[in-house]
Amino acid sequence: MPISRPTEVRHPLANASIAAELAAGLCAPAAAIAPKFLYDALGSKLFEAICELPEYYPTRTEAAIVACHGAEIARAVGPGATLIDLGAGNCAKAATLFPLLHPAQYVAIDISYDFLHEAIDRLQQRFPHIEMTALGLDFSAGLDLPGVVRPEKRLFFYPGSSIGNFTPVEARAFLRRARDQCDTDGGLLIGIDLVKDSATLDAAYDDELGVTAAFNLNILRHVNRLIGADFQVAQWRHRGFYNADEGRVEMHLEARAALTVSWPGGARSFRAGERIHTENSYKYRQAAALGLLEQAGFAAAKVWTDPDSWFALIYARALPLA
Ligand code: AVJ
Repeated sequence: MPISRPTEVRHPLANASIAAELAAGLCAPAAAIAPKFLYDALGSKLFEAICELPEYYPTRTEAAIVACHGAEIARAVGPGATLIDLGAGNCAKAATLFPLLHPAQYVAIDISYDFLHEAIDRLQQRFPHIEMTALGLDFSAGLDLPGVVRPEKRLFFYPGSSIGNFTPVEARAFLRRARDQCDTDGGLLIGIDLVKDSATLDAAYDDELGVTAAFNLNILRHVNRLIGADFQVAQWRHRGFYNADEGRVEMHLEARAALTVSWPGGARSFRAGERIHTENSYKYRQAAALGLLEQAGFAAAKVWTDPDSWFALIYARALPLA
């Protein structure tokens, strides 16, 4: 049997536009660094560690939903899909779907290319019959898929409530773009974190071991490498909490004292206690989640949740283009 090799396509992030994006965020009155910059090689590993924390329920709850309802999910989706994994990371979630969904092709997309590349090489050994493609791209900037991706029966897999990083308005636009990439028989299998009590949410994003703090603080080292900034991690404190008014968890980095950060071409001074906003993680009520999918051009077919209704896994079909 010939050894299958995954196709690998890398879209190097344009350095100039990244530097401009980061500088603009740092210099904005309310400073911000986009959450995609959390995922350098170490950041991706720290996120894996977060998924093992007792406080961080989303990953394990979603996995339990798949374990419990796998047969029904398989029946809803059907075999032979082109499984397009948005933010594949270590590809572990998709791998649990392979024996259920029997996809014809697996397309793993992640901004952290080196991490993805290693994961997909390993996966291709385990599943030599599935055609695999690794795409290193920032899909938040656009979702144009290269020609190697089969047009038939595209199933966008967007697990883990990563959709929560977008505002609801951005989320709708993003999902509509995914819908526009569906030809015949397309669909979406999406994990969405549901609104719950704030103590549970606060703990999930500010854990006792400080793993989430390390994950958040690591963004500063990544930014130092990307633009030659001189952030000192020890000068910053992690903040992670549920903002009930906005319906989202927020992560920030808070200056422990007045300080100035410099990089070639710019600088920003921070007052003691001033924050850099690094992530939003929107939580939805089930009805709002279904409304979002409908507005994006998907017809909600099936919802699966855990016994506590903490998390929802939803399969929706792409509606014909208007
Ligand atoms: C990968 C975006 C789904 O929002 O829960 C985990 C990232 N941030 N802990 C989330 C994250 C802090 C995670 N997503």
